[in-house]
Amino acid sequence: MAYLLALDQGTTSSRAIVFDLSGRIVALAQEPFEQHFPHPGWVEHDPTEIWHTQLATARAALEQAGLTAGDLAAVGITNQRETVVLWERSSGRPVSRAIVWQDRRTAELTDRMKREGLEARVRAKTGLVLDPYFSASKLAWLLEDPGLRRRAEAGELAFGTIDSWLVWNLTGGAVHATDVSNASRTLLFDIHAGRWDDELLELFRVPRAVLPEVRPSVGDFGVADPQWLGGPVPIHGVLGDQQAALFGQACFEAGMAKNTYGTGAFLVMNTGTEPLQGDGVLTTVAWRVRDEPLRYALEGSIFVAGAAVQWLRDGLGLIKESHEIEALAASVASSEGVYFVPALTGLGSPYWDPHARGLLVGLTRGSGRAHIARATLEAIALQVYDAVHAMETAGVHLAALRADGGAAANDLLLQIQADLLGRTVERPRVTETTALGAAMAAAVGADLADLPTLARAWQPDRRFEPAGDPEARARLIAGWHEAVARARGWAEG
Ligand code: G3P
Repeated sequence: MAYLLALDQGTTSSRAIVFDLSGRIVALAQEPFEQHFPHPGWVEHDPTEIWHTQLATARAALEQAGLTAGDLAAVGITNQRETVVLWERSSGRPVSRAIVWQDRRTAELTDRMKREGLEARVRAKTGLVLDPYFSASKLAWLLEDPGLRRRAEAGELAFGTIDSWLVWNLTGGAVHATDVSNASRTLLFDIHAGRWDDELLELFRVPRAVLPEVRPSVGDFGVADPQWLGGPVPIHGVLGDQQAALFGQACFEAGMAKNTYGTGAFLVMNTGTEPLQGDGVLTTVAWRVRDEPLRYALEGSIFVAGAAVQWLRDGLGLIKESHEIEALAASVASSEGVYFVPALTGLGSPYWDPHARGLLVGLTRGSGRAHIARATLEAIALQVYDAVHAMETAGVHLAALRADGGAAANDLLLQIQADLLGRTVERPRVTETTALGAAMAAAVGADLADLPTLARAWQPDRRFEPAGDPEARARLIAGWHEAVARARGWAEG
C-alpha cells in the first residue's frame, strides 16, 4: 500500500497529513507558529520557524501513522501564497523575516504605481490588481536595502514563496523552484506566456538572479533529502493552497467552484484553458499537469473570514473557543441591524482597498454578544456573496458552491451562505481539501491516480439548500453595502 504525505503550510500553522491512495486521512499533525506584528498593518513570520514546524509535523504524522519514508509514494506541498522569503544561497539562511500576504506595508508603492497608470498593463499580463497582497511589492520593499540589492544582483540571494522555501529545504538546497500556481500570485509572472516577465521585473526592480525556476504543479520537484524523513521521497506536487483546495474538491471542469473558509475566504472557479476577466476578481493559474496546457481560474480573495472569529476570541474575548460562535450566533434570529465589516487588513475582492479598516456599526442598547457573533458570520457570507457577484461579471454562472476550510464545519454559516446566494452549498466528506489536493496532485505526479478517478471519488457530506425571506435578504445586503462604504478609505493618508 502506497501513502502520500501532504505538507500544508498555512498562515497560522504548519500541518502534515498522511493520506492513503483512496484519500482517507491516516494521520495528521499540526503546529502553530508565531505571528509577528511589528507595526500596525505589518505581518511577519520567521521562515526558520516555518521550516522547523513543518518538518516536525511531517515526522510526527509519519510516526503517528506507524509508517516510514519507504511507505510514501510521494510528497505534495501546499502553502499560504504570496508570502515572501529571501534567503542566502550559500548558507540557506533567511536574510529577514518573511513578509506575509496580509502585510499592508507596501500600500504606498502600489498606490503610486496605480497613480502612474500602470494597473491595466500589469493586470493584462498577470490577471492581478496592484495591491500589496501580492509578492512583488513585498520583495521590492526588501530590496530597498542597498546591501540586499547588491547581493541579490550578484546572485547570492534566492527569493521564493513558501513552497519554494520548503522545496529548497526539503531537497537540502538542491532545488530552487516554484509551481505555476504560486508564480501566478507574485505579480512578476505572465500567466498567458507562462513565464517570468522582464517588463514586470523591471517595474518592481527585481533582479532575475533571485527567481526560482517555474515548474508544472504536477511534476517533479526533486527528492526530499533522507536526513529529514528517514529516507528519500520524491516531491511530485506543489500548489498554492487555494488552487490545491480546488484540486482537492475535484473541481476539474470549467464552471466548478469552491470556497475555502479559512483565515481568509477564497472563492475559486475553474475556467479551463481560458483566462477570463471579471471586475474586482483575479485571473489566476489553477495548475499545470506536466506538459499539458495551463489551467486557469477566477478568484475572489477575501482577507479576513475565520480571522474575524479569531479576533472576536482573542481581540475582544467575546468567546473562548472559535466553535462557540455558532451557538452564540444561533441564539438570536437576526443581527438586528448590527454589521461588522472585518476589514482588519484592508479589503480584497471586489473592493481592493488596502486603506479600509474594520467597522462595527448599527449598535443599540439592545445589541449584545450574540448580535455581534451573528453579524460576524453574516460578514463572512456577505463577502463571499460580493465575490460571487463580481465573478459573474466575467460571464460565468456559479451553479453550486463546494465549501471547505475550518469554518465550513459551521452549519449556520453555510446555511446563511446558501440563503444569501440563492444557490446550493455543498460540503464534502473530507474537509481537509487543501491537503487532500496536494496529496492527490502528488499521486497524479507519481502515476498512481488520474483526474477522472479523483472526480468520481468526491462525496458530499451535506447539501445546504437556499431558503429564507427574500426581503430580509435584500435588506441585509443593502445595509452591508452601506457599512462597507463607510469602512473604506479609513486609513488613507
Ligand atoms: O492568498 C493567501 C492564502 O493562500 C492563505 O491561505 O489558508 O493560509 O489562510 P490560508
